[in-house]
Amino acid sequence: GAAVTMDPSVVEPGELKTVEWRGQPVWVLRRTPEMLASLEGTTDLADPASEKEQQPDYATNTHRSIKPEVFVTVGICTHLGCSPVTLPQGTANPSVPADWKGGFFCPCHGSTFDFAGRVFRNKPAPTNLVVPPHKYLADGSLLIG
Ligand code: FES
Repeated sequence: GAAVTMDPSVVEPGELKTVEWRGQPVWVLRRTPEMLASLEGTTDLADPASEKEQQPDYATNTHRSIKPEVFVTVGICTHLGCSPVTLPQGTANPSVPADWKGGFFCPCHGSTFDFAGRVFRNKPAPTNLVVPPHKYLADGSLLIG
């Protein structure tokens, strides 16, 4: 499939936009300082350094992205392919662990991912959300694929 471009500067802080690439939803999330702070110091991650799957080198840092504030990921749960939803920290939801700091929640079987798509406590998604190949052509142009 063809690569797609989008302008990440139109995504507001805290907002997530979806771009279709190869028939898959690719999320572009502009993380707030609070979302970035929530990524630090978490110990209970299944794959903290994103080593279990082939990922671009720029997806193996804590924020799993080229630019810390812009997170690009395939919005498909790595368990059985459902669509996770965004849940901010502190959302009252009996299905998520009390010590989870927010991120993406998969309603199908309860996997929780942080705002870098890292799966929390390995239940039941085996691996982090997939970061597709992407790069910045210029400030207003992100190439996915
Ligand atoms: Fe997401 Fe099973 S498909 S937890």
